[in-house]
Amino acid sequence: MKRMMAVAVSALILSASTGVFASTADGEALFMSKCDKCHEEGGTKAIPEDDIKVIKGMSADQITAAFNGDVDAPKKMLKAWEKFSDAERAAVIEYLSK
Ligand code: HEC
Repeated sequence: MKRMMAVAVSALILSASTGVFASTADGEALFMSKCDKCHEEGGTKAIPEDDIKVIKGMSADQITAAFNGDVDAPKKMLKAWEKFSDAERAAVIEYLSK
């Protein structure tokens, strides 16, 4: 049983690090899984009490600036971004800036 768990866990780590989304880089799916818990409804919802603005429709520059210290972004947001590959970041920017 322990061994089974170890195999399952390592398979999980492997798929996480190689990136299930890496080949497809579906920006909307990435956003939904990593960003939507704070930026609700696909980034279309403003939540003033949490300082969350509508981010859907922002320019690519505004979006990248948010990860370069322009806003007081929470650690979890920066962590999620760090884990994305360049292709995944591009796909998320593409999704948001549409
Ligand atoms: C833990 C909650 C959380 C997660 C997860 C999160 N964000 Fe944020 N995000 C915030 C908050 C809070 C702000 C507002 C920061 C401020 O202005 O003080 C913000 C701001 C932003 C902004 C800047 C908006 C502006 O005012 O210019 C963008 C763009 C953004 N987030 C994109 C993303 C993307 C893309 C992801 C997924 C990788 C993500 N966020 C994940 C909480 C989160």
